[in-house]
Amino acid sequence: MSNESLANLLREERRFAPPAELAANANVTAEAYERAKADRLGFWAEQAHRLTWATEPNETLDWSNPPFAKWFADGKLNVAYNCVDRHVENGLGDRVALHFEGEPGDTRSLTYADLQREVSQAAHALTELGVQTGDRVAIYMPMIPETVVAMLACARIGAPHSVVFGGFSADALATRIKDADARVVITSDGGYRRGKPSALKPAVDEALTRPGTEDVRSVLVVRRTGQDVEWHEGRDVWWHEIVDRQPEQHTPEAFDAEHPLFILYTSGTTGKPKGILHTTGGYLTQVSYTHHAVFDLKPESDVYWCTADVGWVTGHSYIVYGPLSNGATEVLYEGTPDTPHQGRWWEIVQKYGVSILYTAPTAIRACMKWGDDIPAKFDLSSLRILGSVGEPINPEAWVWYRKHIGGDRTPVVDTWWQTETGGMMITPLPGVTATKPGSAQVPLPGISATVVDDEANEVPDGAGGYLVLTEPWPSMLRTIWGDDQRYLDTYWARFENRYFAGDGAKKDDDGDIWLLGRVDDVMLVSGHNISTTEVESALVSHPKVAEAAVVGATDPQTTQAICAFVILRGGAAEDEGLVEELRAHVAKQLGPIAKPKRILPVAELPKTRSGKIMRRLLRDVAENRALGDVTTLTDSSVMELIQTKLPSAASED
Ligand code: WT7
Repeated sequence: MSNESLANLLREERRFAPPAELAANANVTAEAYERAKADRLGFWAEQAHRLTWATEPNETLDWSNPPFAKWFADGKLNVAYNCVDRHVENGLGDRVALHFEGEPGDTRSLTYADLQREVSQAAHALTELGVQTGDRVAIYMPMIPETVVAMLACARIGAPHSVVFGGFSADALATRIKDADARVVITSDGGYRRGKPSALKPAVDEALTRPGTEDVRSVLVVRRTGQDVEWHEGRDVWWHEIVDRQPEQHTPEAFDAEHPLFILYTSGTTGKPKGILHTTGGYLTQVSYTHHAVFDLKPESDVYWCTADVGWVTGHSYIVYGPLSNGATEVLYEGTPDTPHQGRWWEIVQKYGVSILYTAPTAIRACMKWGDDIPAKFDLSSLRILGSVGEPINPEAWVWYRKHIGGDRTPVVDTWWQTETGGMMITPLPGVTATKPGSAQVPLPGISATVVDDEANEVPDGAGGYLVLTEPWPSMLRTIWGDDQRYLDTYWARFENRYFAGDGAKKDDDGDIWLLGRVDDVMLVSGHNISTTEVESALVSHPKVAEAAVVGATDPQTTQAICAFVILRGGAAEDEGLVEELRAHVAKQLGPIAKPKRILPVAELPKTRSGKIMRRLLRDVAENRALGDVTTLTDSSVMELIQTKLPSAASED
């Protein structure tokens, strides 16, 4: 069914050519693909010149011990210098780096000169606290400017940071502190979320009572909300007390290109979190290049906004390192999109004249659910490029995004990448590619990706299989922190000499790549492989559906039966005929084999804090099992709500 189904989803053959003016002035043109194809390493060596090196690299890639890559290994540089100081030296000290918008409405703009001063002072403060090159620093913070400053200060002194998302529990924090053997934790009293202060410091206090965290000698605390905090004399230090009194100049030291820059934990589906290790020169080269190319950034005129949390890789690469290395002006927003009203994001776009917006499909679908009239109240005409990342974006959501946010004029770039890849890998280029709703389309210049079958043979156009990366890339993970064997087993064992990303994908008749979700999520129904993503896309293409999550539940007749959970669009009624109507709709779109056996309208879906649907829990519900681990859920009451709906919702053939 799969090939026709894609064609069906695209039955109107929608393609959007790049706007002529954008194409004419694009940072990167089609020629880059040719150049990179002719000489991939030469192409990346050229991109490394985007950076300012203390010692220029002569070597590009050392792949003598695969899959342990070294990029630009004989070069030296300082990441913070590249993201801050050099812009000031180039006369751009007065350019705004960060427009901070607090959730309560407080604001602060930091220029590159401000950033240089604060990063320098924070670097001195860390040194005073005994942090040395190579020591790990855990960062557990809300979305405030000090978080960016803290990351850059760590980079400046060569102390790898491990940012732990502020929504994680004390347990999750303790596990990560222990695994990285962190010496200092940077946190705040709290941050503002959903209209009220939300504490962070108590989770740090609790985490540091757990065995294995004894090496943490200092906790640096930013005052954000002013709420009461417990104080551990001799361990806890207020940020303003130690940072503000430091000298405003700091000489950055140059580090080897392969010096560790950060560890970022990714949970994966099972087992203990993996500490993904990224290093300095290759990482910064790729995030800088991709941010310049994929968003066509014109730093003198664009206002860029990535809505991700800094605790995810998107925040690392496309709030901190990519944009700042390019001298961008960007928005940093602390809170949630619906506080105090559902138009908050659009109000921010209007206020700062945001021209490039980068967000996730889950957020786009939430906005679709809230209704078209909400963004329509704001002036969004400053927008010129929209980006998406994090999961497959259904064609319907893609088209909605372009139409209701982008005024039917902006290109939408659907960017596929992972914590492990460090930077973007597969995406259209806004001035080059005729975009197709729902497809990430083509590997970037210098990136080699394809789709293979079980035996590692490349599949022909029009067929599906596993997404693999066939050549090393500069911002690739170097290993899993402290566990080289797990690095080999997880990514390099399934196919020889190929990095297996864990995603299913297919190539359409033009050779464009469509991501189909994690391979663990593929369903087997009466001998057919059906992707959860495709059924979800078919459901969301119905005008009454805002969001859908699909799982395969064990079934005596068909091996697995398709069970769908749907959120209806604002206003749609959950009447008698609706479930039948939706089932018929999917059957028409994808064929009868893909018709869900059950469809349950629900108010919310269980999601991880990064917005990914937790299908494992939905499978538990669909199979009438007790729920598994719910600790990484954003909101655990969601599952109770879903379970109470279950008995009445069954719909059998
Ligand atoms: C997984 C990586 C990349 C930063 C945020 C997520 C899925 C990501 C897309 C996309 C389809 C996507 C994949 C990937 N994913 N972007 N544009 N289209 N799927 O980072 O938490 O490491 O997750 O997210 O399944 O493997 P992450």
